[in-house]
Amino acid sequence: MNAPRARIIGTGSYLPEKRMTNDALAKLVDTTSEWISSRTGILERRIAAEGEMTSDLAAHAGQRALEAAGCDPKDLDLIICATSTPDLVFPATAAIVQRKIGAQSTKAPVFDIQAVCTGFVYALSIADQFIRSGMSQKVLVIGAETFTRILDWNDRTTCILFGDGAGAVVLEAVEGGDDRGILSTHMHADGSYVELLHVTGGISQGRPSGFDVKHDALGFVDMHGNEVFKQAVKAMGAVAEEALAANGLTVDDVDWFIPHQANKRILQATAKRVNIPESKVVMTVDHHGNTSAASVPLALDEAVRDGRIRPGHLVLLDAFGGGFTWASALIRW
Ligand code: ACO
Repeated sequence: MNAPRARIIGTGSYLPEKRMTNDALAKLVDTTSEWISSRTGILERRIAAEGEMTSDLAAHAGQRALEAAGCDPKDLDLIICATSTPDLVFPATAAIVQRKIGAQSTKAPVFDIQAVCTGFVYALSIADQFIRSGMSQKVLVIGAETFTRILDWNDRTTCILFGDGAGAVVLEAVEGGDDRGILSTHMHADGSYVELLHVTGGISQGRPSGFDVKHDALGFVDMHGNEVFKQAVKAMGAVAEEALAANGLTVDDVDWFIPHQANKRILQATAKRVNIPESKVVMTVDHHGNTSAASVPLALDEAVRDGRIRPGHLVLLDAFGGGFTWASALIRW
């Protein structure tokens, strides 16, 4: 008997109300709207309201995905949340989401995945393994971030890039029939590059005496942009090619390419490297900024809801983030 396949039966997303334009950023740091848009393609990003937590964004996106799937939260038997900006050190944001969407009575397992911008594709891959092994039947996978909370608003090289948001999918185990569903996933990491992209604060660093504890324990995003750019294009290109080769498919078979929305130039360079025309690339970075683990499911939901992605289409998800980590998922929609 063949292993069950994981099929995405609903997508959803959520963006906080507050928009921050490039002009507004230019009032905070020494930059211009023109510099930001020409170097990154970003025009605006969303900022979570005071008191609005990653779990709030995640729960909204999750509920929308459940509605689209026609799935009762009580039918879920696994919830995975990919985030680098959890509400609490513990428990997992996924546990808080379970309660917020009314799925706590299921006693379904919940956990978070931390692979920064690759987090959602990692989480999707894990959910796929749970479904293929027969462990799970209905899984909610969320990517959610309040990344603007870890930005140094005095650092013009990083604060212009990121935004807040969440995206989600509901997966269902299907047996037999056509090949619609997740065809394959590939995950990689190379810990040699930790210093090139990281957050300066950390729990195991302890509480520095003589400082504002709350402030210093949190830390700020620190990035070597040029090097990250080069590695991102190389790794996302390679893992896209790996996915196609593993399935005996070519780049011409791909209907939609959804790379991590880091910035427009990374997306264009990756598409060029893989030889995918820009018309097949879903780009949302202009109005979302880089939302880390939320970026791929946000873009996916947008392309599903506006009718670009249709049943039978071949969709290639591709992500790269701190670690470095990188991963792809090839999906027959
Ligand atoms: N406004 C104006 N000038 C700026 C700004 C800004 N916001 N930021 C940097 N500059 C200046 C620099 O100080 C530098 O000035 P100098 O020449 O006098 O020293 C100049 O612009 C050029 O700086 P570079 O860093 O070389 O600019 P670059 O063209 O590489 O663009 C950027 C910087 C946009 C960060 C780019 O490197 C990049 O996109 N990197 C990828 C990083 C990324 O997207 N990371 C997201 C997280 S990782 C991920 O999601 C995959």
